[in-house]
Amino acid sequence: MTIELGMLVPHTPRMCHEDKAPDFLRELVQGMHEVASVIETVKPDALLLVSCHWMSSFHHFVDATPEHKGVLTAFECPELISDVPYYHPGDEELASQLVEAGQNAGLPVVKVNDPTYVWDYGTVVPLRYLLPKGNIPVIDLSVCWAANLEETYLWGQQIGKVLRESNKRVVFASSGALSHNLIRGPHFMPTLAEQALDNQFLEYLHQNDLSSAWKMLPQYARAAGVESGGRHLALLLGVLEGSYQSQYYGYGQSSGSANVVMTFKPQ
Ligand SMILES: [Fe+2]
Repeated sequence: MTIELGMLVPHTPRMCHEDKAPDFLRELVQGMHEVASVIETVKPDALLLVSCHWMSSFHHFVDATPEHKGVLTAFECPELISDVPYYHPGDEELASQLVEAGQNAGLPVVKVNDPTYVWDYGTVVPLRYLLPKGNIPVIDLSVCWAANLEETYLWGQQIGKVLRESNKRVVFASSGALSHNLIRGPHFMPTLAEQALDNQFLEYLHQNDLSSAWKMLPQYARAAGVESGGRHLALLLGVLEGSYQSQYYGYGQSSGSANVVMTFKPQ
């Protein structure tokens, strides 16, 4: 099967609770609801999500836990995300296939199967919008700090290969921001230079020129302080390799960071 849908989604903590989201995040909130209805139509067998807030030091972790259940209070921002319960089934079989493929490619990929592991807010926040019913199996992936963008892209390619060879219909979400030089003041936009870089990167995605987006990423990630050093984007681009039609659903700033909702459909 093919990858049914790729997504680039935000997780800014101020949108955790929709009723408390400020006006400048409304476009993102609306966009997330629209993408949720696309997922509802696709009816995937599983959703993979890489989160910029599951920061692993040395390994690429794959959360193969058969049942993801917990209550999140985010240690970075407990005033915004406190006592938030979540429940999603997992997919141990597909997760194990991903781990095996990564290891066979020589990558330090490690399986996590641990019901005590509590998800980060980069995972929980978007899933509150994307899978509100909690009835689609989820596999969570970390961003690995010891891995550079090239290694992360290679890991993404291995994931993409497994998904294309699987008989399951899968969607892949990358949870993270574009430019991300954070400053105090939730309503602040990125600088003009950061916005220019973000816009060029988005333009490549819009033109379905994923190879130029990938070529631009290393310098862009450094100059604009892209979240997780751009690893969530490298993973997304590695997974998506091929021809995709992007759709843009909205933009929102958060403390000087740029956040978008986008989807990528195979064509
Ligand atoms: Fe973040």
